Amino acid sequence: MKTFIYILLGLMPCLAVSSRSDAADCLECHMDLTSKKVVHTAVKMGCASCHIGVDAATIPHKFKKGRRGLIAEPPELCYGCHDRKEFTRKSQHAPAASGACNSCHDYHTSDNENLLLADTYKLCIQCHPEIPEKPHVIIQMMGSSHVLLGRKDPNRKGKPFDCASCHLPHSSDWGKLYRYQATQSSELCKNCHDFLE
Ligand code: HEC
Ligand code: HEC
Ligand code: HEC
Ligand code: HEC
Ligand code: HEC
Ligand code: HEC
Ligand code: HEC
Repeated sequence: MKTFIYILLGLMPCLAVSSRSDAADCLECHMDLTSKKVVHTAVKMGCASCHIGVDAATIPHKFKKGRRGLIAEPPELCYGCHDRKEFTRKSQHAPAASGACNSCHDYHTSDNENLLLADTYKLCIQCHPEIPEKPHVIIQMMGSSHVLLGRKDPNRKGKPFDCASCHLPHSSDWGKLYRYQATQSSELCKNCHDFLE
């Protein structure tokens, strides 16, 4: 009996998809788009939450509207469900602002949290390889560099300490994409340390 329930629970995501839209048909051939650990909730809601104009009866598909049948292109597509404000604060990160969300995220499925293409640190240094190579956040009193990895984030429960502990990935109200209010770097420190007060 128990096993039966577990099997049923295992099937739940598929059932949810098939009852809501045409995704079940799409998945006959596109299973790989739901095969990893994290599946985008929008995908579970149905392919038609983003691709409305696909004629699946023809291969290669004919597209009735939009590139690849999309309702709109990112980032507008994403703002249909995600708060635009998160991405359009005063200082914006170039790849997010340009709508290249897929330089960091998979749109469908991924083995990493937040649908990321790699873990945050690896992702950031792909485009910023100089950061770990020279002292970052030079600690004047020590003349050495700040730790960038391998600790726990003191403010964000369950998250590792990495680039996203100090920087926001999309946009920020403050300079340098700071996660916390700071007009200069020294104001950032007090969010995690009390030695400077
Ligand atoms: C009978 C199999 C089959 C079904 C059903 C199917 N597809 Fe496809 N689809 C393919 C194949 C084959 C390709 C071309 C190879 C590829 O790009 O993966 C493709 C490609 C695509 C592409 C990319 C096209 C491009 O320009 O590269 C999209 C988007 C897509 N399918 C969406 C859908 C959606 C949405 C559905 C459901 C409404 C669907 N497909 C149903 C077989 C199928
Ligand atoms: C959150 C929006 C969203 C949902 C939901 C979604 N897609 Fe996509 N999909 C995209 C975007 C955006 C692209 C275009 C990527 C590019 O070309 O820049 C894409 C591209 C594709 C491609 C081309 C190959 C690839 O991986 O880039 C296929 C095939 C595809 N989608 C099929 C599907 C199917 C099947 C579903 C449902 C199971 C689905 N998509 C659900 C946004 C979505
Ligand atoms: C430079 C890499 C990068 C780009 C580009 C990017 N993201 Fe992200 N995104 C991240 C990271 C890293 C996280 C996890 C942040 C964390 O740990 O708090 C994330 C988290 C998210 C989340 C989860 C909720 C949240 O804010 O924590 C959503 C939704 C999201 N991104 C949507 C988008 C959309 C939409 C775009 C394009 C407009 C985009 N992202 C572009 C790196 C990126
Ligand atoms: C149809 C609505 C819809 C659209 C369109 C949509 N999303 Fe989402 N997305 C969701 C929902 C719902 C969640 C789950 C939110 C939550 O758990 O708080 C989510 C979660 C996410 C997450 C976090 C994933 C996780 O599980 O941790 C990322 C990253 C993300 N979306 C990126 C995007 C990007 C990039 C686009 C544009 C290509 C996009 N979304 C378009 C509905 C949507
Ligand atoms: C796809 C490439 C790409 C990825 C991945 C990427 N960045 Fe960037 N980043 C850029 C570009 C382009 C700029 C703008 C550079 C410039 O203005 O000289 C930038 C600028 C920045 C800035 C300076 C912003 C400012 O206002 O001065 C910070 C901080 C930053 N990125 C942090 C990160 C973090 C943290 C990550 C990982 C979550 C990351 N980046 C991932 C491309 C990327
Ligand atoms: C302990 C907090 C902290 C961490 C962790 C951190 N940064 Fe920074 N970052 C800063 C501060 C503070 C500045 C501003 C430095 C300055 O103005 O001298 C900065 C500046 C930057 C800039 C802009 C460079 C410039 O010269 O203006 C980039 C790009 C950047 N960081 C990327 C990253 C990446 C990638 C990671 C992870 C490998 C990371 N940061 C981790 C605090 C941090
Ligand atoms: C998001 C949180 C965060 C911010 C912001 C931050 N740090 Fe740290 N800092 C840490 C963590 C985590 C460690 C590692 C502590 C450990 O090893 O247990 C650390 C370690 C240090 C150390 C080594 C001594 C120690 O306590 O272990 C110094 C010095 C330091 N930080 C200075 C700074 C300065 C200066 C700033 C501002 C420019 C800053 N930090 C900003 C989280 C942060």
